[in-house]
Amino acid sequence: MKVPFIDLGRQHKPIKKELMQAFERVLDSNKFILSDEVKQFEEEVATYVGTKYAIGVSNCTNALLLSLRALGVASGDEVITTPFTFVATAEVIAIIGAKPVFCDIESDTFNIDPEKIKECISSMTKAIMPVHLYGQSADMDKIMKIAHENQLKVIEDMAQSLGAKYKGKMTGTFGDTACISYYVTKNLSALGDAGMILTNEQELDNKIRAFRVHGASKKYHHDFLGYNDRLDAMQAAFLRIKFKYYDDWNAKRRRIAKKYDEALEDVVTVPKINEGNESIYHQYTIRTNKRDPLREFLKEKGVDTAIHYPAPLHLQPAFRYLGYKEGDFPEAEKASREVLSLPIQQDLTDDEINYVIECIRNFFGK
Ligand SMILES: Cc1ncc(COP(=O)(O)O)c(C=O)c1O
Repeated sequence: MKVPFIDLGRQHKPIKKELMQAFERVLDSNKFILSDEVKQFEEEVATYVGTKYAIGVSNCTNALLLSLRALGVASGDEVITTPFTFVATAEVIAIIGAKPVFCDIESDTFNIDPEKIKECISSMTKAIMPVHLYGQSADMDKIMKIAHENQLKVIEDMAQSLGAKYKGKMTGTFGDTACISYYVTKNLSALGDAGMILTNEQELDNKIRAFRVHGASKKYHHDFLGYNDRLDAMQAAFLRIKFKYYDDWNAKRRRIAKKYDEALEDVVTVPKINEGNESIYHQYTIRTNKRDPLREFLKEKGVDTAIHYPAPLHLQPAFRYLGYKEGDFPEAEKASREVLSLPIQQDLTDDEINYVIECIRNFFGK
């Protein structure tokens, strides 16, 4: 049997007619950039998460970039973040001339370890950028407390966590801003690139809206230098269709995760979801010190897997200039050697789920 890691065709087939109607609606409107489609999608997401404002942009990388700019983070400032994330998180900090300061992760949730944040703070620290990795919230009470005590801004990288909850509250409602990715493999995905910024502050909302259109609060009046960073009407229209099914899809992912948990907990370390957290299981990531042979075995059996992430950012050539070395963040380094993400898309069949389980158990001789 072949089990794909992700097969978007299965997601799109049952809603193809609706997607085609959305395409026609936008085509006929002749409004392709921003527009009412984007405005309505922004309102729908803001209502869903519970923030006052949502600003559609072209992707999450730029959502993080615009957040940093709007919060006044600039050259010479430091931003504390995790080394165990997709490169974009730290990349944008460096791109604007600030310094990413890495902080090790918790061994069980893979999220930034709040107990270690304090030792990363210096007189140059301006912000903390936690990532809600694999769809589970970071420990936001502790992070927000440190931020308030040290007058730091917080940007939530919620690229992977739209709909995830921390103590009953949605991710995206804690930081000064929060950034969503609608990249094609995300739980809620556009048919291309798309992203969004959430905030409760009107001033930030105004600033970010201006940043996304070349720093203009009024057409052809440029208060500062900005970007071309708008969400397309077409992508917003597709996302609005998928958004109707989103909670149902995430519930299905949770059911698959529960099956994996029960069937695999005696052979590998299954994901630890903290009490009070509700994960959207963007990834279902196990850990084992036999990761590479297990992955090879599963490949031979037709089961696709993925590694998020094979090298922590402090050891990537792009960040060598920061001067970090092997051993600086032992938990992130260990995780990068041991993590393996299993197929978790909502459209997996029971046969496929059982087959993945059977293969993993076979590998461990069970
Ligand atoms: C944690 C994290 N941050 C940022 C991004 C960047 O998102 P985008 O691809 O929409 O720019 C991603 C996307 O993979 C991500 O996983």
